[in-house]
Amino acid sequence: MNTDQFLVKSELNFIDKATYTWQTPSNIALVKYWGKSNPQIPKNASISFTLKNCHTTTTIDFEKKEKSESVDFDLFFEGKQKEEFKPKIAEFFKRIQEYCPYIFNYKMTIHSENSFPHSSGIASSASGFSAIAMCLMSLEKELNSVLTQEFINKKTSFLARLGSGSASRSIEGPLVVWGNHSEIEGSSDLFGVKFPYKVHPIFSNYQDTILLVDKGEKQVSSTVGHNLMHNHPYAENRFQQANDNLTKISKILQEGNIKEFINLVESEALTLHAMMLTSNPYFILMKPNTLEIINKIWEYRQEKNSSICFTLDAGANVHVLYPENEKETVNQFVKKELSQYCQKNQYICDTVGLGAKKI
Ligand code: PMV
Repeated sequence: MNTDQFLVKSELNFIDKATYTWQTPSNIALVKYWGKSNPQIPKNASISFTLKNCHTTTTIDFEKKEKSESVDFDLFFEGKQKEEFKPKIAEFFKRIQEYCPYIFNYKMTIHSENSFPHSSGIASSASGFSAIAMCLMSLEKELNSVLTQEFINKKTSFLARLGSGSASRSIEGPLVVWGNHSEIEGSSDLFGVKFPYKVHPIFSNYQDTILLVDKGEKQVSSTVGHNLMHNHPYAENRFQQANDNLTKISKILQEGNIKEFINLVESEALTLHAMMLTSNPYFILMKPNTLEIINKIWEYRQEKNSSICFTLDAGANVHVLYPENEKETVNQFVKKELSQYCQKNQYICDTVGLGAKKI
C-alpha cells in the first residue's frame, strides 16, 4: 500500500503562529465496518451517509517553538481543560507523526466542542478526529503551498483514519466509501473516497432522526469490539457479506430501489449486532427500548406504506432513515410514538450533509 505519498518530502516554510477552525460532521454507516487489522486497515469496505447537524467544531492554535522529542499540546473540551481525553489524542499524534513531522515544531492548543449533547451515545470520534486532521492539514498547506485540494482531502481522511476508522468517512459527503473494493473506483483501505457514481434523487437530502435511547458509557468500546472479530467464528463470512453488500448498495443507490435499500440497511445493522452477540466474550449493546423502536418502525412501515428504516451504530441509539418527502409525517410519528422510548424524550433531527467546513 502506498503510504509514501503522505510523507512530507518538500522543504517546509515554517510560520510563527497560525489558528484554524474546522467543523466536521459525524457519519452513519449503511454497510458497516467491524473488524480491522493494523494499522487501522478495515477487514471490509464500508459506506456511510455524512451527517450535517451532528458535528464537532475544533480550533487549533499553533505556536512555533524549538523542535522537541514529544508532541506538546493542551486540550480544552467545551471550554474546560480535559486531561482524561489527552491519552487518546497523544496516541493519535504518535500514529501520524511520521506523516506530519511539523507537529514537533509547534505548541498546539486544541479547543473542541460538539453540537450534540455530551455522552449522548453518539460517537464523537469520527467528527472529533476528522476536525483535528483538517486543522493539521490547513497548517501543512500553509507550510507547503503546492498541495492540491484533492490531495488535502485524501491526506486528511488518511490521518483521521489513524485516529478512528470511521473518521476517514467524515471529510466529504454525502456518501463516502472507505475500504478497497473492486467495484468502487478509486476506493482504498487508507482513506475514504466520495461515492463516485450518480445517486438517484430519492436519496437527496435523506433524513436521519437519531433516537437517544441510552446515553450511558458503553460497556464495550468499539476498539474492544473490533478486536473480538479476530478468531470470531463468523468473521470471514461477515467480511465477504459486507463486501457483497457494498456491490449491491452501489447499484441500489444509483437506481433508487428503496425496498432493496431498506432490506440491506436493516440487515447490516442487525448483522453488526449479531457479531457482538456471537463474540467471545459476548455482549449486547441494544437496550429493550431499541427493540421497542424497531418493532414500531416495522409496524409503521407496513401500515403507512412508508419508506422509513432503521440502522444502528455500536450502541443502543436508533437512527431512523427516510426520504425527504416523508419529513413531516415521520416527524409526527417520532414525536408521538417513538420519543417515549428515548432518554428524556430526546432525539436529534439530522439530514445528509457535505462534509468538513472551514469556519
Ligand atoms: O471508527 P470506530 O473504530 O469507532 O468504529 C465504528 C464502527 C461502527 O460505527 C459500528 C460501524 C461504522 O462503519 O461506522
